[in-house]
Amino acid sequence: MIETNSSLKAFNTFSIDARTKTLFHFKDLKQLPELLALLKTVRAEKRPVLILGAGSNILFCEDFSGLVIKVELSGVEIIESQDNYLLQVAAGENWHQLVTDCIEKGIDGLENLALIPGVVGAAPVQNIGAYGTEFKDFCQAVEYVDLNTGEFFNLNAPQCLFAYRDSIFKSKGMQNALITKVTLKLPKKRQTHSRYGLLQKLDAAEKVTAKQIYHSVCQIRSEKLPDPDLLGNAGSFFKNPVVNKQQADDLLDLYPDMPNYPQADGNIKLAAGWLIEQANLKGKKLGGAAVHQQQALVLINQKNATAADIIQLAELVRATVEDKFNVSLEHEVRFIDSKGETNLKQVIKHVRA
Ligand code: FAD
Ligand code: EPU
Repeated sequence: MIETNSSLKAFNTFSIDARTKTLFHFKDLKQLPELLALLKTVRAEKRPVLILGAGSNILFCEDFSGLVIKVELSGVEIIESQDNYLLQVAAGENWHQLVTDCIEKGIDGLENLALIPGVVGAAPVQNIGAYGTEFKDFCQAVEYVDLNTGEFFNLNAPQCLFAYRDSIFKSKGMQNALITKVTLKLPKKRQTHSRYGLLQKLDAAEKVTAKQIYHSVCQIRSEKLPDPDLLGNAGSFFKNPVVNKQQADDLLDLYPDMPNYPQADGNIKLAAGWLIEQANLKGKKLGGAAVHQQQALVLINQKNATAADIIQLAELVRATVEDKFNVSLEHEVRFIDSKGETNLKQVIKHVRA
């Protein structure tokens, strides 16, 4: 189904009222020839293309001049073998619903990733992660269609180049890759993973079940993270920064209580939320946007915020943390302007001009 000059307000969790010139609801692979024909026209007009899931990791900085393809492909197939469950899931399925359905069916593994908003097709893009596990831990394959040619490809997990909030799907060469399906492998014999931060208190229990972890994760997340249906936000606005050991040691001399997580390569990951809180920015308001009181890493649309409010608040946070700690914060949220993906550095120039 093709719409023109449509509002994207319901399709992004910041609830920014941006519009797109063209919107295509991609519900069924049978629509592919129609989509490829539409893409030909859009490209001939030199207009940009954006692949959209549920818009929970996106900030629309202004109206979009091109074609938004909203991925709504549906279908879940579960293949059981002696040792594993293989789940073949279409890209438009809701991620949290999938996790919930699995837990209800006694298929364990995804419980630490409960309540992450968005659709399944977006999960590989930034390799979603929470409470000690990441998408890559369960990924068997990712299928995508090249929007230039209509050809289908299948990548295995190593080929996806997964890293912290990163994958091959974020690279420039993959901008035309529309993920259509993911295959997850969930071993039947698997240790639950509760040795992480707040989940540790569960370890006191004799045998922690996946269901217990699922409920615990849902409870912790509901207490700390705002529900986008009630308060617009896109989760962590910035990534947790990774610094070298010397810089981490220098900061630890000054701030011995600073959370720090040593990485396999010797570098140290810091907690952006802690840095933002220590910079006295918790609750900081700018226009209709604010730094969330319960979790400083989350920027919220408190009261009819415009994209410009959120952009200026993000820049204030970035610059204040850099001044105080000499640590650069990179945004996790994807910035989209009228022509496609951009970044905070670019848009802030535009907003100030
Ligand atoms: P969108 O925001 O629509 O898109 C995100 C990116 O993926 C865009 O670049 C888009 O072009 C691309 N994309 C989407 N679908 C496809 C496709 N089919 N093919 C190719 N590219 C595609 N993230 C975490 O990792 N961990 C968390 O704990 C977490 N918690 C969150 C909590 C809240 C309250 C919110 C609002 C967000 C949170 N997020 C978290 C971020 C977000 O939920 C994830 O990044 C999620 O995977 C985004 O899914 P989406 O469908 O909304 O993608
Ligand atoms: N902290 C503060 N103040 C704050 C927020 C956090 O001091 O306002 C401290 C906490 O006390 C803790 C540390 O910072 O010591 C880390 O906080 P938390 O465990 O809440 O996790 P996070 O680093 O803020 C990351 C992910 C989340 C994910 C959680 C749980 C990133 C950018 N964010 O947040 O992912 O759900 O861990 O695993 O890696 C997202 O990507 O959108 C997201 C929500």
